[in-house]
Amino acid sequence: MRFAGRCALVTGAAGGIGAAIVALLWAEGAAVAATDRDTRGITAEALLPGDLRDRAFCDALPGAAREALGTLDIVVNNAGAITRGPVTRTGDDDFALSMAVNVEAPFRICRAAIPLIAADGGGAIVNIASCWGLRPGPNHALYCATKAALASLTQCMGLDHAGEGARVNAVCPNEVNTPMLRSGFARRGLDPDTAVADLGRTVPLGRIAEPEDIAEVALFLASDAARYDTGALYEVTEGNRSDEDVRGKGRARHRRAVGDGAGHRAAPDRGGGAGLHRAARSRRGVRGDRGRPGRSGGGGPCDV
Ligand SMILES: NC(=O)c1ccc[n+]([C@@H]2O[C@H](COP(=O)([O-])OP(=O)(O)OC[C@H]3O[C@@H](n4cnc5c(N)ncnc54)[C@H](O)[C@@H]3O)[C@@H](O)[C@H]2O)c1
Repeated sequence: MRFAGRCALVTGAAGGIGAAIVALLWAEGAAVAATDRDTRGITAEALLPGDLRDRAFCDALPGAAREALGTLDIVVNNAGAITRGPVTRTGDDDFALSMAVNVEAPFRICRAAIPLIAADGGGAIVNIASCWGLRPGPNHALYCATKAALASLTQCMGLDHAGEGARVNAVCPNEVNTPMLRSGFARRGLDPDTAVADLGRTVPLGRIAEPEDIAEVALFLASDAARYDTGALYEVTEGNRSDEDVRGKGRARHRRAVGDGAGHRAAPDRGGGAGLHRAARSRRGVRGDRGRPGRSGGGGPCDV
């Protein structure tokens, strides 16, 4: 029971990764305040439905969670929106949505949460970014840019608030079997189960991530085991696909398998993968290691 007595706020709690994070936190003894647009069907101590595009809702969310649970020790900014296409095929609404959900909401929630976490004796914020925020892939310009902003914000907050007892880190997943990925396949007329299986055969570990694989890494970062981590970006890459050669081959294999285009998806199968979090740790920490230059293109969650 790593989280007995801890109180956590989780956004995007009705989605694939969010539901897994809520379930694992719960199983490990945390009291959870869950938020999403529709929280019906979520089991948690507090349900705080709302739209993260609503600035006032975001500003008030950490306080509402603390009010409901007693303290605020952990915040997981997991909710995300994906818009697909190059900039020439994205509209003003796409821009506003991507910025509001992927950047502004975490900014507002962190800004409100950090003083509360500090006042309650210290804790952790975990942001769910994306490996496409570190190395952009094709045809998802806004998604990649907003995830890069979230990754940078995480590094900045980790640095700025290190002395306040609030650690801030991010998980940067590759492809995860959730509604976000599957909806991309469906939109292209592909059967999501078949496409996910085909994609899994192209990665070194033999399958793409299940939500629990990402949740385990998020919980590690939220736990005291990560007490010396802040401002870090943890890639969860299903094998070292950050290597250009491997990624190039993987992309080619997958293009052969399911064609080119965009993915991201919802995981009905919650059985697989719990405990697997041998994440390739990408420690682009607070000292300014910006990662490997010149690595653009592919290898991301939507590289399907
Ligand atoms: N699935 C992947 O391959 C993948 C890869 C890398 C990163 N991610 C990131 O992981 C996080 C979780 O994504 P997921 O794959 O579980 O997707 P998902 O679509 O299953 O879940 C996203 C959740 O965010 C919520 N959300 C979106 N807009 C909202 C709004 N305006 N107000 C309130 N809630 C809102 C949705 O309702 C949904 O429940 C996201 O930040 C995503 O960008 C996913």
